[in-house]
Amino acid sequence: MGQACRIVTPILATPSGRLYQADCVDVLHCVEAETVDLAFADPPFNLGKTYASRINDALADENYVSWCETWLTEMIRTLKPGGTLMLWNLPKWNIPLGHFLGKHLTFRHWISVDIKYSLPIAGRLYPSHYSLLYFVKGTKPAIFHPDRIPIACCRHCGGELKDYGGYKDKMNPRGVNISDVWTDIPPVRHAKYKKWEANALPLKLMDRIVSMSTDPGSLVLDPFGGSGTTFVAAELTGRRWIGGDLGCSSILERFASLDGDREHLKEIQRQKNMLFTEEDLRRREKSGKPLSKRYRVEVPSSGAACRCEPEGMPSEVPMSL
Ligand SMILES: C[S@@+](CC[C@H](N)C(=O)[O-])C[C@H]1O[C@@H](n2cnc3c(N)ncnc32)[C@H](O)[C@@H]1O
Repeated sequence: MGQACRIVTPILATPSGRLYQADCVDVLHCVEAETVDLAFADPPFNLGKTYASRINDALADENYVSWCETWLTEMIRTLKPGGTLMLWNLPKWNIPLGHFLGKHLTFRHWISVDIKYSLPIAGRLYPSHYSLLYFVKGTKPAIFHPDRIPIACCRHCGGELKDYGGYKDKMNPRGVNISDVWTDIPPVRHAKYKKWEANALPLKLMDRIVSMSTDPGSLVLDPFGGSGTTFVAAELTGRRWIGGDLGCSSILERFASLDGDREHLKEIQRQKNMLFTEEDLRRREKSGKPLSKRYRVEVPSSGAACRCEPEGMPSEVPMSL
C-alpha cells in the first residue's frame, strides 16, 4: 500500500473485482505498489460540468494539472514493471500530463480516437478526437497484443474502401494492424445498452485497451469508474479489477445485470481479429461482389458489381505488412 489506506469495505465485490466509493487518491492509497498490469484513467475534464458527485469541475488550469499529477503519481506507484498506464483526456490536458508522465514512464503512443465531442465552435476547428496517452513502466510493455481489425468495407455492398492492390495475399487473415488513429469506435449506444448516466466510454474502446495490455488474470485499475465500463470489460474477459468513484450508483446498477453488456461484448469480439466481418461477407454475397481469391479467407463467391468501387491507391502499402 501507499500512504495509510483508510477505506475498509468495498461497496461491491465480485469474484474478480473490488469497487470502492471514495476519492480516487484514497482508493489508490489502498492499492499495493507494483501489482497493477493496466492503470486506466478517464477523469473529469475540468469543463465546468455538473457531476452527481458535485466535484469542482472548473479549477484554475494549474490546479487541475497539479490535482491530476497527484493521482497519476499514485497510479505510477501501483504499476508493475512493464505495466501500462493509459490516460484518456482532451488534447489540451494530455499535453502537460503527458510531459509529466514522461518523467516517470516510457512514452509509447498518443492515440487519437475519432469521436466528436462538442458542437462546432466559431473560429476554431471542430473538436473531433480524444487523446489516449499510452505509457509503460520501464522500457517495454510486459503485455502487448493489440487487436487486429477488419478491412474497412462499404456499408451497402461490402466492397473494400481501399485497394490493397498486389498485397492481398500478404494480408494477415486475422485482420489489419491497428494504427494510433482509431476511427472505428462508435459512440455509446442508447436504449439497448445504455441505461446509465452520460460520460460512459464505449465498451469497444475499453475492450480494446484491456485486451491490448492485459491477459486473463491480470489486474486492471481505474480510479474514476463512472458507469463502470472498465470494470465491465475486465470482469467479462476474466481480468481482476479494482477501482472506485465518488458515486458508485451507476456501477452498482450496471453490475446488477450484465446481460446486455455480455451480449454487446460478444458482438464486439465477433468483429475483430478477422480480415472481413461476417456482415461484410454477407453484404458482398447479396450484392454479388466476389472477394478476390488472393485474400487468405474462405468466402462464398458471387456475381454482379456494386457502384462503390474502392478508390485506387495501389501505391499504398497495407498496414498489416
Ligand atoms: C468521465 S467519468 C468516467 C466515466 C467512465 N470511464 C465510464 O466509462 O463510465 C469521471 C468520473 O470521475 C468521478 N470523479 C470525479 N472526481 C473524483 C474523485 N476525486 N475521486 C473519484 N472519482 C471522481 C466522477 O464522479 C465521474 O463518475
